[in-house]
Amino acid sequence: MRTFLGIGLPADVRDAIASATGQLRGRHAPVAWTAPENLHITLAFLGEISPERAASVERSMQGVVSGIGPFSLTAEGGGAFPGTRNPRVFWVGILEPLELVRQLQQNMGNALSGVGFPLEDRPFHPHITVGRTRGALPPAWGERFIDALSGRRFGIVPVSAFTFYESRPEPGGAVYIPLCDFRLAGSGKR
Ligand code: 2AM
Repeated sequence: MRTFLGIGLPADVRDAIASATGQLRGRHAPVAWTAPENLHITLAFLGEISPERAASVERSMQGVVSGIGPFSLTAEGGGAFPGTRNPRVFWVGILEPLELVRQLQQNMGNALSGVGFPLEDRPFHPHITVGRTRGALPPAWGERFIDALSGRRFGIVPVSAFTFYESRPEPGGAVYIPLCDFRLAGSGKR
C-alpha cells in the first residue's frame, strides 16, 4: 500500500481553495488539479509499504501525539515549486506561526527514522498542493496562478489530529483513504 501522513482540511477551507482556483481549473492546460476532497498538508510521505510496516508506523506515532497539543494554521495565498517561471507544483501557503507544525513534522520524522524510514534531507515547507503540471504551460501561467491566489485567505485549519492515509490509484485519479487518526494529546497552545 502507498501511504503518507498528513493533515486533512476542513470543508470550508477546501471549498474556498476550490472556488479561488475554479477559473484556472476551467481553462485548458496540462495541469492535474487536486480533487477538493483530497486537499491536505503532507507531513511525511512513506511510499509503498507492507501492512506490517504500516502497523509499526502506527505504533511509532503514539510517542509523537503525546508531545504536541492541538494548534491552528491559516491557509493563505499561493505559489509554485520550484518557481513561478517553471512551475511543477502549484500550492496554497500556510501562514506563520509555523513552529508547532515544524515540531510535529520533526518529531514524526524522528519516530519514523526509529522504525527504519530515512529522515527527509530536504527542508520542510508546509503547503497544500492544488495542482501538478503534466506538460509545458503557456508562458504566464505561474504568474496567473499566483495572482488568482495572492492575498486571499482560505480559512483556519484547526490541527487537533493528523491522519495516516492510503493513496489508492483509481482511473479518475488518486483516492486518499484515511486509515487512522492520531489525536494530538500533549499540553500546548492553540
Ligand atoms: P505534496 O503534494 O505535499 O508534495 C500523497 O501522495 C502526498 O505525498 C502528495 O500530496 C505529496 O505531497 C506526497 N508525495 C507523493 N509522492 C511523493 C514523493 N515521491 N516524495 C515525496 N513526497 C511525495
